[in-house]
Amino acid sequence: MLENQLLKQFKNQFRTHGRVFSAPGRINIIGEHTDYNQGFVLPAIIKQRFYVVIAKRSGLDPFPIVRIVSSKTNEVSEFNLFSPPPKQWMNYFWGVMKEMEKRGKEFSSIDVFIFSEIPVGAGLASSAALTTAFGKALNAVFNFDFSLFELAEIGQATEHNYIGVKCGLMDQFISAFGIPETFLKIDCQTYDYEYIPFHHPEIRMVLFNSRVKHNLVASEYNLRRESCEMTVSVLQQFDPEIQSLRDVTLPFLNEHKDALTPIDYKRAQYVIEENNRVINLCEDLKNNDLSSLEYLLYASHEGLRDQYQVSCPELDFLVEAAQQTPGIIGARMMGGGFGGCTLNVVEANQYDQFIKVMCEKFEKKYLKTAIFYQI
Ligand code: GLA
Repeated sequence: MLENQLLKQFKNQFRTHGRVFSAPGRINIIGEHTDYNQGFVLPAIIKQRFYVVIAKRSGLDPFPIVRIVSSKTNEVSEFNLFSPPPKQWMNYFWGVMKEMEKRGKEFSSIDVFIFSEIPVGAGLASSAALTTAFGKALNAVFNFDFSLFELAEIGQATEHNYIGVKCGLMDQFISAFGIPETFLKIDCQTYDYEYIPFHHPEIRMVLFNSRVKHNLVASEYNLRRESCEMTVSVLQQFDPEIQSLRDVTLPFLNEHKDALTPIDYKRAQYVIEENNRVINLCEDLKNNDLSSLEYLLYASHEGLRDQYQVSCPELDFLVEAAQQTPGIIGARMMGGGFGGCTLNVVEANQYDQFIKVMCEKFEKKYLKTAIFYQI
């Protein structure tokens, strides 16, 4: 079993017994860029997880020292809690501990072994799985009392303050609260949530990796968020009750269109429409009605491409190719955008053939091996 194997590796590495914790990556069915606008999202966990094996180190170090070994390299990387780590990826671990410190916690030295099944940069929220798994691990070995919700918030604060991405809470929330074969509708205004079981053997999902990683992701992402916040501050002049785009209806937005720049208007219009799509799809899924899935997924993609402008040619190609491939029900880009994966909902009886044809199309166009993940 994987966990036993990881415990063994930890023992070989650090000569002591560790404990294993893990958290999953995610897909998002619909509701993109709505979380930080206090709207709705509908993610689900995937089976790939991020694993942390951890033990407190005996002996007294003047400062808490964190030693991390990644299964990928088997090299030991180290930082102490009082100075920024030497490598960017370690900021996730450092950030989680600093955020816990801000919340009144103290640490001693630890040894950590990490192993991830979640591809990095594919838009599957590997970093949220990391912060959630590490948060759970610290919670347990130091007897902290953070709730799952607080661990999610700590993960989000780590992204904001130590990585520079002003993300919403969707990824951390689903990684902490998700359960298999179930979608999670999250209201990002109140953080009320609802599990929506999804048992449809006639349908399967597959992700196609665009194989693009734009380094603009963080800056463009933050700009989208600023654009939405700008719209809110303008609209507040007409209605001071408005706190976020969640409080704005399409007729109200249209009424004040002239007060907004055309770009900010388009972005806000997308967010309001996308929220409506999440609400509609959730209602239909609860009634076991899948007939709107096709339209809503494509409409979401078009909105992300044309109004919110976070797609890229490779993602658009994959969605268009899917649309013309037998077996497809609906497809769209998924996650923050500018790369990552497309989500494809496919008829189960044409699933293998669909994947085969899509791989051929991708490889012909980009002369690169197609990468896909079966869900
Ligand atoms: C990233 C962020 C999330 C969310 C999505 C877009 O995954 O981490 O908070 O905003 O992008 O829906």
